[in-house]
Amino acid sequence: MGKVIAIANQKGGVGKTTTAINLGACFGVLEYKTLLVDADPQANATSGLGIDLHKNKGTYEALLGDANLSDSIVSTSSPNLDVLPARIDLVGAEIELISKAEREHQLRRALDTVRDDYDFIIIDCSPSLGLITINSLVAADAVLIPVQCEYFALEGLGKLLNTIKIVQNGLNESLAVEGILLTMYDTRLRLANQVVDEVRTHFQELVMKTIIHRNTRLGEAPSFGESIIMHDASSKGSINYLNLAREILQRNQMTQLTDEEKIIPVSN
Ligand SMILES: Nc1ncnc2c1ncn2[C@@H]1O[C@H](COP(=O)(O)OP(=O)(O)OP(=O)(O)O)[C@@H](O)[C@H]1O
Ligand SMILES: [Mg+2]
Repeated sequence: MGKVIAIANQKGGVGKTTTAINLGACFGVLEYKTLLVDADPQANATSGLGIDLHKNKGTYEALLGDANLSDSIVSTSSPNLDVLPARIDLVGAEIELISKAEREHQLRRALDTVRDDYDFIIIDCSPSLGLITINSLVAADAVLIPVQCEYFALEGLGKLLNTIKIVQNGLNESLAVEGILLTMYDTRLRLANQVVDEVRTHFQELVMKTIIHRNTRLGEAPSFGESIIMHDASSKGSINYLNLAREILQRNQMTQLTDEEKIIPVSN
């Protein structure tokens, strides 16, 4: 049964979608069959993987219970990576869900029908803590929280952790925090190092060892509709996300790593 990881932070532009696409693609390259669920009406994960935003059924239908997921899931150019796409009308689900019974459990119910087909299901959340994100946290086994290496990095994190606690206390007791992922790290900026130190002091082992560096290839890959691994396999972005995938596999005892595969430290 696949492990479900929600990528969440209600702060905008911190690297959620970049992480969802590229972590998913790296699990795929490492031969773990992965489904990426686009749970954001902005549909950036859908378009970033080159999927037509208008043709497909997707997360909206899954949340409102009127689609067979296998009709909605589409494959991508990245090996072993499928997508449950989003469209802009997903924003309407936020309101339509309110009147539904078991409204927080709709995505979980839908994903349960395909969990056995995948090793990982990654959910790209929107920058909000609304009902669709709550559905994502209820469907998830763990939440991965990207935090950008910049001023106000920790802003809003308390609110997110509080929401996670509320979900754990009633809706999904087994929800775990997979970790905090530092993103867009720029070696040239002293501030970036200060943020890394601050976040590590605050959250200790909860912070992933892998840090995602700022890398222009990561920024441009979505405009080609490609994951970083298909766009430029030798880029720093590819190396960072492969390390993240391996770190998560290692944490979940899903792999034994050889010495060369061990996590590359920040300075590399
Ligand atoms: N490591 C990186 N290096 C360079 N650019 C990056 C990196 N990570 C993300 N970006 C760019 O930063 C912008 C925001 O990233 P992304 O869309 O992944 O954030 P997000 O948290 O999903 O945003 P939103 O909250 O709007 O959903 C995008 O233009 C993306 O291409
Ligand atoms: Mg996004």
